[in-house]
Amino acid sequence: MASPDPVKAPTAGDVAVDFGVYVHWPFCLAKCPYCDFNSHVRHAAIDEPRFVRAFAAEIAATAARVGGRTVASIFFGGGTPSLMAPATVGTLLDVIAKHWTVAPNAEVTLEANPTSVEATRFRGYRAAGVNRVSLGVQALDDSALAALGRRHTAQEALAAVAIARATFPRFSFDLIYARPGQTAEAWRAELRRAIAEAGEHLSLYQLTVEPDTPFADLRAAGKLALPDEDGARALYDATQDVCVDAGLPAYEISNHARSGAECRHNLVYWRYHEYAGVGPGAHGRLLIEGRRHATATERGPEAWLARVEAAGDGLIEDDVLTREQQGDEFLLMGLRLAEGIDPRRYQRISGRALDNARIAALAGHGFVETSPNGRLRVTCAGFPVLDAVVADLAA
Ligand SMILES: C[S@@+](CC[C@H](N)C(=O)[O-])C[C@H]1O[C@@H](n2cnc3c(N)ncnc32)[C@H](O)[C@@H]1O
Ligand code: SF4
Repeated sequence: MASPDPVKAPTAGDVAVDFGVYVHWPFCLAKCPYCDFNSHVRHAAIDEPRFVRAFAAEIAATAARVGGRTVASIFFGGGTPSLMAPATVGTLLDVIAKHWTVAPNAEVTLEANPTSVEATRFRGYRAAGVNRVSLGVQALDDSALAALGRRHTAQEALAAVAIARATFPRFSFDLIYARPGQTAEAWRAELRRAIAEAGEHLSLYQLTVEPDTPFADLRAAGKLALPDEDGARALYDATQDVCVDAGLPAYEISNHARSGAECRHNLVYWRYHEYAGVGPGAHGRLLIEGRRHATATERGPEAWLARVEAAGDGLIEDDVLTREQQGDEFLLMGLRLAEGIDPRRYQRISGRALDNARIAALAGHGFVETSPNGRLRVTCAGFPVLDAVVADLAA
């Protein structure tokens, strides 16, 4: 079916915004002990056709609300989207293209777990229209992978990376650092090995112990020997050194890329553009009649299905954000980026100017700087205390 005509992009703070579509697949084969994403393990087979119908209904309902858009990016996240049949991904891409115009150069990313079984589906995803894959490698050390509860070895993960490289025009993989017992020296060596296998993009996350996870229980029991604050700082500094040396600087606090290879989908979030969130527990930020709506759907997969089947969408939240809330979100997202934010856009979004005295005080501590083109950005010294910097500027 022909795509609808492209329409002029809406604006936020006088900037024409990109539109992204996030699709959440909420199932995994096992729950990793550090993970608090909306992911669930089911022992019975998943009824994919039923999920496809519900995703299609929610996409149609979202399109009816926002109207015509040109889609710059589509992201299948999870959970483990690489458990979906390639035909499911293909059908969902067709449904998106039926309701919106998909830009010819749209980025279409799928998150994949790097097991050999999943790698066998990569060609099917590519044929369905996926052009970028993001693999959860997590570590290149088998004992660390076992401690993270992963179901793949380093060798198996690297084999999946090689298949991704041969199959997709773009790929990325994730590593977790600041793991129990990890030294900066060992991490430097592991990261250099990873960069030798990487393409043009890497996500490097510092391990976070999330509440109500098995790792939180282990830590409470004194059984998780995580690096202390100085140790974590040394690991963060090692990350920046090794990546800058290799030509993969951080363009966001945890994301590294060669210039031009940044993940466009995540830039939609961090640049405070517009996105639809589809599937269980997905969040969206939609521009409807000049107002920014924050949407969220039911998290439980079966409850989400029941809600969509009864009401046409799985929405449990749909709030119009105040200008102050939008200003706070804009700061929180934009200051994660190395490019920082345009203070004039902040003013247009929030209706108030940033406080120059606060900026001067933060700059005095070396936490922020203003670039020659007037953008405000957080420095290397400021990134480890980003939350405090944002809170200060938003106060
Ligand atoms: C949505 S997860 C899923 C990717 C995929 N299911 C996998 O595990 O390979 C995206 C990434 O978040 C990171 N992550 C998840 N929980 C984390 C935590 N507690 N601390 C740091 N990074 C985490 C992992 O690197 C993971 O690859
Ligand atoms: S880290 Fe990935 S595979 Fe593990 S539970 Fe979370 S989403 Fe699933």
